[in-house]
Amino acid sequence: MVYLINILIILLAIFVIKLVFIWIFFYADIKAAQKRDPAAKSFLEIILLYPGLHALVYYRIAHALYKMRLFFLARLLSQVARFFTGIEIHPGAKIGKRFFIDHGLGVVIGETAIVGNDVLLYQGSTLGGTGIVKGKRHPTIGSNVVIGAGAKILGNIVIGDNSYIGANAVVIKDVPPNSTVVGVPGRITKQDGKKMDISLDHAQILDPIMQTIEELQDRVKDLEKK
Ligand SMILES: CC(C)(COP(=O)(O)OP(=O)(O)OC[C@H]1O[C@@H](n2cnc3c(N)ncnc32)[C@H](O)[C@@H]1OP(=O)(O)O)[C@@H](O)C(=O)NCCC(=O)NCCS
Repeated sequence: MVYLINILIILLAIFVIKLVFIWIFFYADIKAAQKRDPAAKSFLEIILLYPGLHALVYYRIAHALYKMRLFFLARLLSQVARFFTGIEIHPGAKIGKRFFIDHGLGVVIGETAIVGNDVLLYQGSTLGGTGIVKGKRHPTIGSNVVIGAGAKILGNIVIGDNSYIGANAVVIKDVPPNSTVVGVPGRITKQDGKKMDISLDHAQILDPIMQTIEELQDRVKDLEKK
């Protein structure tokens, strides 16, 4: 009985130490989670129940191991994190401060991805590569960017600061700062706070199907005139 009580005390002590460690070293990230998620009621709730924060804690340790060239251990830790959180962050990725993944399940961040400060990712989003090329093959995300649920950002492209990627968008080209992008393939619908008139501004059309339809419409009009 005494042994059992001792084991329980040790487990409780480990739990409290872990809690204090996360509270101290991830204070800014916890605050960011509280700011970004209106449903978050307390620090304790975020520390204990938010898989996005757990994945970040694992990632920071795995990234330190990766920088020490302990690649296998780093990858092992990231796979453990994936098992428990459903979030896969490659230890080689570079992630800035106050990073928050809301809900989390299905998020994938590739090895050469770079993420700025104050970035928010929703569940199912991917910062991925487009093929099997080596070198920098994942996106660079600026600061203060929000990436909607299920959005895919693919290839060595740059998403400018303060941009908003809509849910389920597929982005395969650079996005300038202060833009909102929606659709497949992604098209800019808002820039510097102004709504883009997509039908008039052909330079902003990233959707080849829309472009072809509009060209056909123009030809039909020309033929009708003749
Ligand atoms: C893109 C988004 C940021 C809206 O930005 P906004 O600037 O307020 O855009 P609006 O609502 O004015 O919509 C602009 C146009 O894009 C369309 N649109 C908006 N979101 C879209 C999306 N995800 N996919 C496709 N089209 C979208 C709108 O229908 C509208 O089209 P219209 O001009 O033809 O009417 C938002 O819709 C979004 O997708 N947020 C992601 C949030 C998320 O993932 N939440 C998960 C919580 S669990």
